[in-house]
Amino acid sequence: MNIIKFETIDSTNKYCKENNENLPSFSFVISKFQSEGKGRNNRVWTANSGENLLFSLIIKENNLLENFSFLSIGAACIVAEYLESLGVMNVEVKWPNDVYIDGKKVCGILLEGNVEKYIVIGIGINVNQKEFLGEYRVEPTSVCIELNRDISIDDFSINLFEKIERTLRDSNLKQKFIGYVNSHNYLYGKYVNVRGNIGKVTGISNNGYLLVDDIEIVSGEVTIL
Ligand code: BTN
Repeated sequence: MNIIKFETIDSTNKYCKENNENLPSFSFVISKFQSEGKGRNNRVWTANSGENLLFSLIIKENNLLENFSFLSIGAACIVAEYLESLGVMNVEVKWPNDVYIDGKKVCGILLEGNVEKYIVIGIGINVNQKEFLGEYRVEPTSVCIELNRDISIDDFSINLFEKIERTLRDSNLKQKFIGYVNSHNYLYGKYVNVRGNIGKVTGISNNGYLLVDDIEIVSGEVTIL
């Protein structure tokens, strides 16, 4: 495991993409603050300085690059399972890759890269932030709010990084993730609209895609109706 730490950076995802040729697989790039944190669908990811875990991981193993859709949902499962191991209750995964606690968002994940060569998994977890000012599409929460105590970000991050590397190197990855999502699926039973496909979420397919009325939806923003 290779860990690179910054006090401040524009975006850890951007750093990994720009330096992809020089970074070994399973490099973790972490920063206390991001001036241009990127969210999904061209949104921004804002987080108070020093209070949260903001990092990106670069992956180059072929067997993982071939399973892009699994990496996306898989990263969310790893974070969710990790939060449960710390005693957080009511943790769920929202396809394709958010982690919710009691219906509030605690973690967002952004995958980028060039699947021929590398994938960057960017993860933002609200850890010690207690106040969220401004507009959010989904109400945010943090680990600290849920556990009612401050968390050591150093311990939290190193244990999570080890769990991520251990899990992603495990060959039973797919079945493990499908099982986990199907028992922690925030969208299960909800009526949704995904790019005009309207219906009830019936699960996650064996390919890691969302099932809306048992039809696989490969990608798209999910709106709950
Ligand atoms: C989302 O929109 O839910 C995804 C948010 C992903 C944010 C993380 S923070 C670390 C990494 N660097 C970025 O610029 N974005 C990701």
